[in-house]
Amino acid sequence: MTMNSFTTQIIAINDPASAAGQAALAQAGALIRAGHLVAFPTETVYGLGADALNAAAVAKIFAAKGRPADNPLIAHICSLPMGERLAEFTPLARLLAERYWPGPLTMVMPRRPIVPDVVTASLGTVAVRWPSHPVAAALIAASGTPIAAPSANTSGRPSPTRAGHVAEDMSGKIPLILDGGAVDIGLESTVVDVRGQYPVLLRPGKITAEQLTELCGNCLLPRPGDAQRPAAPGMKYRHYAPRGQVYLAEDAAAALLIAGRLAETPLFLVSDRTAEQLLNQGLPASRIKTLFHTGDLSRYAQVIFAALRDADSENEANIVVEAVPEQGLGRAIMNRLKKAAAK
Ligand code: TXA
Ligand code: MG
Repeated sequence: MTMNSFTTQIIAINDPASAAGQAALAQAGALIRAGHLVAFPTETVYGLGADALNAAAVAKIFAAKGRPADNPLIAHICSLPMGERLAEFTPLARLLAERYWPGPLTMVMPRRPIVPDVVTASLGTVAVRWPSHPVAAALIAASGTPIAAPSANTSGRPSPTRAGHVAEDMSGKIPLILDGGAVDIGLESTVVDVRGQYPVLLRPGKITAEQLTELCGNCLLPRPGDAQRPAAPGMKYRHYAPRGQVYLAEDAAAALLIAGRLAETPLFLVSDRTAEQLLNQGLPASRIKTLFHTGDLSRYAQVIFAALRDADSENEANIVVEAVPEQGLGRAIMNRLKKAAAK
């Protein structure tokens, strides 16, 4: 069977404990055990899952996404013993697991030999996460194996926050998408290297550097070329990008400057306050999308990837997004926006 020969089934799953939920999970678990890919909701973004202990199954993830082989995957677990089979937990890892698992935190730890090279891109470490979404946890349990899963988008595109986004990128390439509705967080998990005394923040997310510092006494940032604090391999690639050009504007004044340099009015994806200022400057309301209330960073995180995808389907050539202060969740939002805006 070639990779593109699937009729992709989408099954809505609201309550994993219901009879319909159980049937869907049994079907999905059987597919995972048979070495197929299943897309599923997590609290962060949708994942594209395969049996993490089956190298041939995991290879299908890279093919379906067009993902570079040197970008390792996260292994998703649903219990600490399952995690211990894959990785050597350090005292720091135990502290963080106790506080933040299940949840949007991925920990990079020394790997055990059972983990196939294709999962870790042959690194000496493996990234592990215990998701809190009930469907994700139930799928791992039903599969009886850890599930390797990146975000379920074509490599380089905005991560999927709804089942429909997954279908846009994966239709015909995978047998099943579990539809758990819109995700809660909207940005991928915080990734930390926990091999040392303090966490090293490899990818910012919902669990913030400030929270990690409070719990662990410090939170280090990776330095390029530093073997002690390596960056996550995936962070070097262009990411989160719609087909149009994305511009990052500090405020309404900067957004206006950018608009002035373009032949056509761009699409503005901004807060309510900035939207009001743009309207006052005479910009057409049809070009302005209010995504969030000023200061409501959780809401911004939740909707930004969907807004970038919508801009795609409307063939928007130029998109202006609003910058936010780089602290707390704002650090994760800005990390994604800067990548989306990279040329
Ligand atoms: O929220 C999430 O983390 C979602 C959901 C599905 O769980 N998954 C996700 O996976 O975002 P992905 O593959 O899109 O991003 C994983 C990131 C990449 O930047 C990758 O380079 C990094 O984690 N990573 C994975 N294994 C690593 C390792 N052993 N060492 C350093 N970085 C690693
Ligand atoms: Mg991704």
